[in-house]
Parts: sequence; structure tokens; C-alpha cells
Amino acid sequence: MFPFFNNNKEQMELDEKNIPKHIAIIMDGNGRWASKRALPKKAGHKAGAQALEKISQAAIDLGVQHLTVYAFSTENWKRSEEEIKGIMDLLREYLKNYIERAKNDNVRVHIIGNILPLDKDIQQQIIELERLTNEKTGMNLHIALNYGGRDELLRAIGKLSQAVAEGRYAPEEIGEKELEQYLDTANIPDPELLIRTSGEQRISNFLLWQIAYSELCFVEKLWPDFTENDLKQAIYHYQNRERRFGGRK
Ligand code: FPP
Repeated sequence: MFPFFNNNKEQMELDEKNIPKHIAIIMDGNGRWASKRALPKKAGHKAGAQALEKISQAAIDLGVQHLTVYAFSTENWKRSEEEIKGIMDLLREYLKNYIERAKNDNVRVHIIGNILPLDKDIQQQIIELERLTNEKTGMNLHIALNYGGRDELLRAIGKLSQAVAEGRYAPEEIGEKELEQYLDTANIPDPELLIRTSGEQRISNFLLWQIAYSELCFVEKLWPDFTENDLKQAIYHYQNRERRFGGRK
């Protein structure tokens, strides 16, 4: 039983057998949340990190197998040095916390994106956390860091071209499967549902290949205000949409 309340405050229920296996989230609106309160941007990102904790637990409770969240994009480097430092410091804290909890948690943490431009100590925390949680059997939490869909595709195409140059594939053998194995999301099912908070209706270079058939759910609330009930409402919308994958009912 997964009860929740709709916008009219009526109690509703989710279909437990139709929970998306993979949910992707663009956690947008931290900056506006802070501005509304005359707080520095970092306070918004901190509240965003707390919301991520809550929503990860809610996803676990619902039986979601993969949760992918956009924490830092390849374009976010354009922000002020101060804001970038604020996000990186929060990330250090978040990863440290996760490493400490790894023994007791059953979440497998996996980073997507190119981590090489991140500070060395953060790269080490990532490697450590992925190692500590690699055998976990609970939810997979994929955190996108220095991630861009185009960058991911270019990196994958580079590796695939190398494989062709070495004679491991003939060009005509390359299909979706061959490309997918070089994506950061290799062996992860595509998200059935993509949620973006803060009212913006854009994809912003997130999971460009993987969301070809995802249901898109744009939510007005700013990310730090997003709750477990909001997650359930988004899943309810998903459950009540007809997915045809280009075919007919
Ligand atoms: C978008 O809000 C959010 C980000 C660019 C960063 C997301 C970061 C977090 C949720 C916290 C840190 C993450 C971890 C894993 C510790 P925005 O700043 O673009 O909001 P705005 O559009 O209102 O300015």
C-alpha cells in the first residue's frame, strides 16, 4: 500500500506493481529557494542535498531499483567560483557521510559523468564509495557529476571508434547495444520516468540517449521543497499515462 494525497487533498494510492524501475531527477531550483529566503546559494544547495537524502529513502521504500540524479552538469562550471566551491564542499560532506554509513546501508552508489576534472580528494572518495557499495543489493543510486549527455555520447563514440579501428567491430555491426555498452549507464535500464522540479521544462543535456521513451514530469515546486508525497504524485501521473513506444494501443 502506497497512499499519498493529490492536489485536492484526497487520499490516493499507487499501483504497487507498476512502480518505475528507474527514475531520473533533475534537481532544479536550489538557487531560487535560497534567493527567496535571502540566503546564499550554498544554503539552497545544502537544502537540496537534504532533499536528496529524503527522496532517496522514499524511492527505496517504494521499491525503485535505480535512481539517477543530476548533481553537477558539464555546464555548471560556468557558475561563480564561490558557488562551485560551495557545491564541491557539500559533495565532499555528502560522500564522507555515505562512506561512513556504507556498512549499514544497502544502497549501491555509482557515479556517472567524467570525474577526472574533479579535485583529486573527491575522485578518491568516489572510488572508495563505489568500492564499498559495489556488492550492495538494494537500490542503485546513480549520481551525475560533471555529467552532460553530449559529453557522455562523445566519450562513448570515441571508445567505439577505437574498437572499430582495432578491428573488434565492423562499422555495419554497430547498433544500439554496441553503443550502449560504452555509455556511463551501461547495463542500467532506461528511466521510465524523468522528473524536473522548479517549473522549467527543459532536459538540459541530461541522459539524452536514455530518455528517448521516458515519461516526462515537470513539477512546479523547487527541489528543496520536493517531498515524498510529490514523488508519489509523479509516479501516479506516470501510472496513468499510456506508453506506446511509437506503436498503437
Ligand atoms: C540546480 O539548482 C541544482 C544544482 C546545479 C546542483 C544540485 C546539487 C544538489 C542537490 C546538492 C549537492 C549534491 C550533492 C550530491 C551533495 P539551481 O542552482 O540551478 O537552481 P536555480 O535554477 O534556482 O538557480
